[in-house]
Amino acid sequence: MKDVRPDSPEFWEQLSKAKCDDSINQKCLKPETWNKAAATYDDLEKCKDYQAQVTEIINILQQKGILDKKNVIADIACGTGTYAIRMAPFCKRVVCIDISEGMLARLQEKCSRYSLSNIEIIQADWQSYEPPKQYDMVFCSMTPLLRKTDNINKLVASAKRFIGIVTWAGVRRNRLLAEVCRDILGKEMNQKGQDITTTFNYLYSLGMAPHLTFFTGCWERTRPAKIQAENLIWRLEMKRPLSQKEKEQIIKKVEKLADREGLVKTVSTVRTCFMLVDKNQNKDRIYCR
Ligand SMILES: C[S@@+](CC[C@H](N)C(=O)[O-])C[C@H]1O[C@@H](n2cnc3c(N)ncnc32)[C@H](O)[C@@H]1O
Repeated sequence: MKDVRPDSPEFWEQLSKAKCDDSINQKCLKPETWNKAAATYDDLEKCKDYQAQVTEIINILQQKGILDKKNVIADIACGTGTYAIRMAPFCKRVVCIDISEGMLARLQEKCSRYSLSNIEIIQADWQSYEPPKQYDMVFCSMTPLLRKTDNINKLVASAKRFIGIVTWAGVRRNRLLAEVCRDILGKEMNQKGQDITTTFNYLYSLGMAPHLTFFTGCWERTRPAKIQAENLIWRLEMKRPLSQKEKEQIIKKVEKLADREGLVKTVSTVRTCFMLVDKNQNKDRIYCR
């Protein structure tokens, strides 16, 4: 790290770069990775703590008057559109941008299922996409894009007034994943690349005054053993390709945990944060009042 003050944007830019493992980043930002996860991604929507988080975030946006029939919202890295689907009935349009055609195909199905005609779907890489104009709010949830300050700068530049960001806030523990990681890779699961600390401090050092809401929960997913094993393999292959033998070792371990119906439950203990930035609220102006 160069010698820069911790209250300067440069400090947080450098820290973000230092925390980023470039080889993992390359994979996390590619459509192939997310296409593989698309089929089972919405299993999370069945989880009560996750539903409560999404509902609370939608409530905050409604209370702030951001979800308004006059407003166009952009959901960057929208995935299968968990948030976009909930926002669309209250705003003029939701522009959904994601790199993965698999994720967007799920979103398209949901738009038809819920007869939503004001969701615009764009398949693009946010890192090279040039938004034609600013959106009333730019929303961005749980994506590896948040690891890079260039991508955050673009979120800020694309918003007329509001930026909504959902990300990890310190706790992300899944016992089964941790065990498999230790068995196969011989090390702890390091998932520290994307966290609220750097994103918050970067925006704060730029003069913004983000408002934070924290969520703590258990994200449970009960799936057939084969699907759980595939998901674990997918998570580990973000780190490095696995051999056939290693994959079989994971499948065997997961099969042993299956109940009579062949289902396996995993639980992730998580802490997440919703950060809302109003470009009209400068942190220094708040202090002067
Ligand atoms: C964990 S999912 C989050 C999906 C959704 N925002 C949510 O909260 O449910 C991460 C998403 O980031 C998307 N993504 C990854 N790299 C991207 C990029 N370079 N440009 C646009 N989207 C990207 C993936 O395709 C995936 O849908």
